Amino acid sequence: MIKRANSTTADKTTEQSLALIRQSLKSTLMDHLEGTHFDGSIPHVFVILGASGDLARKKIYPTLWWLFRDNLLPENTTFFGYSRSKLTVNDIREKCHQYMKVKPEEEGKYEEFWSLNRYIAGSYDTRRDYELLNKELESNEKSVAANRLFYLALPPSVFEVSTTHIREVCMAQKGWTRIIVEKPFGRDAASSEQLSNHLASLFTEEQLYRIDHYLGKEMVQNLMTLRFANRIFSPTWNRDNIASVQISFKEPFGTQGRGGYFDEFGIIRDVMQNHLLQILSLVAMEKPASCHPNDIRDEKVKVLRCISPLELDDVVLGQYVGNPNAKDPEEKLGYLDDPTVPAGSNTPTYAMAVMKINNERWDNVPFILRCGKALNERKAEVRIQYKDVPGDIFDGKPKRNELVVRLQPGEAIYVKFMTKSPGITFDMEETEMDLTYNSRYKKMKLPDAYERLILDVFCGSQMHFVRSDELSEAWKIFTPLLHRIEKEKITPIPYEYGSRGPKEANEKAKENNFRYYGSYKWVKPEQ
Ligand code: BG6
Repeated sequence: MIKRANSTTADKTTEQSLALIRQSLKSTLMDHLEGTHFDGSIPHVFVILGASGDLARKKIYPTLWWLFRDNLLPENTTFFGYSRSKLTVNDIREKCHQYMKVKPEEEGKYEEFWSLNRYIAGSYDTRRDYELLNKELESNEKSVAANRLFYLALPPSVFEVSTTHIREVCMAQKGWTRIIVEKPFGRDAASSEQLSNHLASLFTEEQLYRIDHYLGKEMVQNLMTLRFANRIFSPTWNRDNIASVQISFKEPFGTQGRGGYFDEFGIIRDVMQNHLLQILSLVAMEKPASCHPNDIRDEKVKVLRCISPLELDDVVLGQYVGNPNAKDPEEKLGYLDDPTVPAGSNTPTYAMAVMKINNERWDNVPFILRCGKALNERKAEVRIQYKDVPGDIFDGKPKRNELVVRLQPGEAIYVKFMTKSPGITFDMEETEMDLTYNSRYKKMKLPDAYERLILDVFCGSQMHFVRSDELSEAWKIFTPLLHRIEKEKITPIPYEYGSRGPKEANEKAKENNFRYYGSYKWVKPEQ
């Protein structure tokens, strides 16, 4: 975790904030290195396995470039791409270019970035190729101590073999080695456990960084501060005051030709079991003993252990169909029209699940998780809905208070509350107290989730990474349901591309103590 800056960032420019981050980063790295024989200028090598793939091109290389551009990486960091295709650094550069967002004035720095890159072609399952990779790494390190980071942007089918080879031939000899892994972490409890056992047989938990990129998002990281640094919220954060909690993820596009991949997983594995459940843990957990990563993750695990496995009755499943009236030709096509999706697939592209946390704080409070593709908007948010005012004197008019944490787009926190309508009247109306980041922190550019997470790996902070026991508890909640859906070939409810999802989901939310009034819409303030 990068140390917190003390002064307010509201009036700082991005450059001033970056300077602050650099300063704290330096001291974090130094703290971490203290007591070892390393000094701050120790070489670091960042190896991207799967360098020619989608994830590397769209996320990893751009992230490394932005961190390098902003001088946030340790001095003396070099980058090694590794994949099967016979390519050059220039080929990789071309593949990545459209995602790198290079400004004309950054051209020089951009050249410098690529001059620090190497590329090695090799197969994932041949030990000899990893030996060659290791040789290259060693020749770059020039026999001084160096730290190595391996980013596994790989298909799950080669996770095991490649990690075995890394362990056997590519570990740093005099520095540390850290392994960054991306989902999918298995398909169910058993396969995930197999992968965890395999990784545990090779690496210590401290060497493993399981990425859930939602943990790198500004507002997800803010949940802990919001809850535990404000007296105003904590006394009401419980079953006595909160009626329901809704955690939503909506995307306005379908599988976009990625249906072949998506169909193997479905929306529950793709988004709900990881991103939404991580958010739920942070919203629901008890206050950790400290901000130490293990104290936080201990609390997250405890919450997950209080959730029973989901039943079919707890969920609404949907699959999008084309909207014949849409203007955009893409929206006329349904999930099954994607040529990469197997004919007749029953994979859900929408899911709502109602979870109950069986502990003293949350007994009987529904946590409604919903996520879907090809919906009416892009939005991810947490909506805490408070109970009705008891002993109402206003003839039943007050609407429920809500605390909304909007993750994206347009980070914001707002509280919906009732106020007297201004003027000569005693009527009331709904309004909000609003912290919209673009208005409050005008000059700030928020870093991308991957930027924060990759920096955390350099710093050795596992606070925003998933521990193996969290993963195992998460799978316990979903596995029986996923198996049942697959075994009984449960048919998802069709919903139109661009709609709000299946109507049945609204019913389910209503049954679970969520009130939708439709009388109020938060309007994003103008910039
Ligand atoms: C990924 C899912 O983990 O998250 C994608 O695999 C999804 O299907 C993506 O589109 C959403 O991430 P973000 O950061 O764009 O909200």
